[in-house]
Amino acid sequence: MIDQTVIERIRENVNIVDVINSYIPLKKTGQNYKALCPFHKEKTPSFTVSETKQLYKCFGCGKSGSVFNFIMEYEKVEFPEAVKKAGEFAGIHVDDGTKHSRTKSDLLYTAYTLAMDHFRGNLEKFGGHVWEYINERHISAETVKAFELGYAQDSFNALSTYLLKNQINQGIFEKTGLFGKNNSGFYDLFRERLMFPIRSSRGKVVAFGGRVLHSDQPGGKYINSPTTEIYTKGNELYGLHVSRYDINKADKAYIVEGYTDALRMYDSGFTQVVASLGTALTEEQVRKLSRFSQNMFVLYDADKAGLKAAARAAQNILAMGSTPRIVRLPDGEDPDSLILNEGKEAMQAYLDKAVTFEEFIYTETDLEISERQRLDMIVETIGRIEDPISQELFTKKASERFSVTSRALKSKQRQVRKSKVSQTSLPEAKKSGLAREIMKLIINSPETLEKICSEIDSDYHILDEYCNLYKSIINDRFGWSNISSYMEKVESEIERNQLADLLIDDSDCFQAELVFNE
Ligand code: UTP
Ligand code: MN
Repeated sequence: MIDQTVIERIRENVNIVDVINSYIPLKKTGQNYKALCPFHKEKTPSFTVSETKQLYKCFGCGKSGSVFNFIMEYEKVEFPEAVKKAGEFAGIHVDDGTKHSRTKSDLLYTAYTLAMDHFRGNLEKFGGHVWEYINERHISAETVKAFELGYAQDSFNALSTYLLKNQINQGIFEKTGLFGKNNSGFYDLFRERLMFPIRSSRGKVVAFGGRVLHSDQPGGKYINSPTTEIYTKGNELYGLHVSRYDINKADKAYIVEGYTDALRMYDSGFTQVVASLGTALTEEQVRKLSRFSQNMFVLYDADKAGLKAAARAAQNILAMGSTPRIVRLPDGEDPDSLILNEGKEAMQAYLDKAVTFEEFIYTETDLEISERQRLDMIVETIGRIEDPISQELFTKKASERFSVTSRALKSKQRQVRKSKVSQTSLPEAKKSGLAREIMKLIINSPETLEKICSEIDSDYHILDEYCNLYKSIINDRFGWSNISSYMEKVESEIERNQLADLLIDDSDCFQAELVFNE
């Protein structure tokens, strides 16, 4: 637990505008600051930061909160971690008492960095036969260097010995996921393998993949380190750390499946490459990638599983507001083998023929799905696109491709949505005028809270969808003086968004919009 007084001291000493501005460029418009929302795709800025209230709110997607909420949301970290980061801005050191957990992640990062150094050192010292393998696969020394490849020796204790020598003690071994354990203790999991370090989007080594060097070796062709405190499978993209500048500069990214596909692409001048590792490209991976470019080319295997995975990947890309193109490789080839067999010019030709998602779904016979299922996939995709403009554009293109009216597609989508349980969403919440006005009074002048509360008393159902928020507020009457700190206590995202909606009025926003457009 972090001491509450420390949290308040940090809150008083950081300005939400400075903090958010260090992540995304803010522009002063009227009383507030605006930016393109980092949490959903949009073309005109509806992400608003109020300096006076020390809150942010996006009028597009509804995300809102305090400076701590922003860091949590943006960095995908928990509250204590967000407080620490905010503390760095204010030059306030945070001791959370659970020194343990902080040191533990730090130790894990250190262990992984040491392990990478160890594997890279091995490649130079003992890796003669590994270099032979690398050369056989036509991987250049520059690529080996850029991706920091290494070698895990054929030994049960080389890594553990190395870590122990470097002050990483056994207490942390189990947490690293790099070791197995039996009666006689820990043993190295990666043995006699070519090692591929996986760096997080922030550049830290958080995992490894290891490939067998001989076909008769036991274990899978690749083994990968497990999910740990510092690594969640499916959250990182292999190679992003190497390729992100090129991806940003060229404004496109090639997404391949495997480690060696990424190396081959990079080696052949298609440097804007990342690998999703395995077949499922997750929304989180798309989100990380979209910071560098929203134009994403999917280059998966041409077998049925690969085609289906490509379709799912493209759906996730669309859902996150980015633009997918699917590259149909010839049967039996992956990007690595294709370039080796047919050359980079051939690869370029396939890239030039990349198709949109709707085109792919319409034309790809090897997906082996019926006409009906194709349309269902289109409708499902429409429902998943949050940004209304992207949704509209996609619907239009799909309707042209399938010769079905946009209206039919949309009404089908509404039908599907209705059949699912619907949550209270912000636009619906805005409808009830009276409840909203009362809530605004309560929230914008805490002094009137007591008075209004006694008036409303048991009649609070007139507050409609704000009932829960109202109850949360009156149950915490005395903690109410600091709105920003209150935001963090509201656990329900719906209530938090309602609160921000009441605090940062749209009229401020429209004013700001006008200024912004000038
Ligand atoms: P592939 O079997 O297509 O391997 O798996 P590859 O990438 O073409 O590898 P090479 O060319 O034979 O060296 C694609 C990806 O799936 C994951 C790896 O990330 C691999 O790169 N995979 C595959 C595993 O994690 N474990 C396995 O046993 C196999
Ligand atoms: Mn391959």
